[in-house]
Amino acid sequence: MTVYGSFPGARPRRLRVNPAMRRMVAETRLHPADLILPAFVREGISEPVPIQAMPGVVQHTRDTLRKAAVEAREAGVAGIMLFGVPEDEKKDGLGTAGTDPDGILQVAIRDVKAEVGDELVIMSDLCLDEYTDHGHCGVLAEDGRVDNDATLERYAEMAQVQADAGVHVVGPSGMMDGQVGVVRDALDTIGKEDVSILAYTAKYSSAFYSPFREAVGSSLKGDRKTYQQDPANARESLRELALDLEEGADMVMVKPAGPYLDILAKVAESVDVPVAAYQISGEYAMVEAAAEKGWIDRDKAIAETLLGIKRAGASMILTYWATEVAQGLGAGR
Ligand code: PBG
Repeated sequence: MTVYGSFPGARPRRLRVNPAMRRMVAETRLHPADLILPAFVREGISEPVPIQAMPGVVQHTRDTLRKAAVEAREAGVAGIMLFGVPEDEKKDGLGTAGTDPDGILQVAIRDVKAEVGDELVIMSDLCLDEYTDHGHCGVLAEDGRVDNDATLERYAEMAQVQADAGVHVVGPSGMMDGQVGVVRDALDTIGKEDVSILAYTAKYSSAFYSPFREAVGSSLKGDRKTYQQDPANARESLRELALDLEEGADMVMVKPAGPYLDILAKVAESVDVPVAAYQISGEYAMVEAAAEKGWIDRDKAIAETLLGIKRAGASMILTYWATEVAQGLGAGR
């Protein structure tokens, strides 16, 4: 580096001098089409129910879900990921409501499809925890363990009813071994070869899911450590990734997002399929709570979290702020 007298030869600050310059040299930009809105729809309610631990997020009625889908589409959001919350008395050991063609998620898929057609990518959570009375993502063996292969049979059936309802993308999120292959096979068997699979490839056992458990009224006691990944591990994500791709995943996801940006970067570097990241309920709750206390600037913090996730390599981000952020981007903010 040339140094002239006592002046620094290089001044990176020159490219930071004003907003116009910073805007021009920015490497990462958020776009509404990067965003996917996760949304909850609850059976048997006539008014939306606020989720305490997620201020601003509700359990939708069928009607308000349709409105939320329209609002998301109008803001330019790419897609919506639907979660069904059945009536409590419909939960059972097998998660039967998850495979009922008239179960709440299937009904919601049809509603949203009727409302927005193909203008918004309609995705569905393919997992049993919303429907089981024990709250696990699978069915239990006699000794109480989550039975992998028996669960796969349930996922195959779920994939088919969700596809029949008109979903564009299914999101197997239960972390059972072989789930992507079984779901692909089940879809192809009924002629749904155009329904894609967004695989929850690297899904960690995280403390940040807690608000979601309220959102879906989960009765889980204990944890999911025998099927979700250990936060201490990075390499096994690459193994999960290889398996999911081999089994036919069209897109892969890392979840949670913020505490796992290293995993996201590794995954994004090593694949040629689209990579998603899920900014989960606890990540949302932390920012909202600190902002409510006046400890951080809410809008700036939200933008920074999303930019970080995109910079790390995600081309699609699931976030509960999707519509709001997309609206702001549309307004040039
Ligand atoms: C499984 C599922 C979960 C989330 C999305 N899909 C819960 C879990 O694995 O425990 C969490 C999303 C969030 O916390 O925002 N059905």
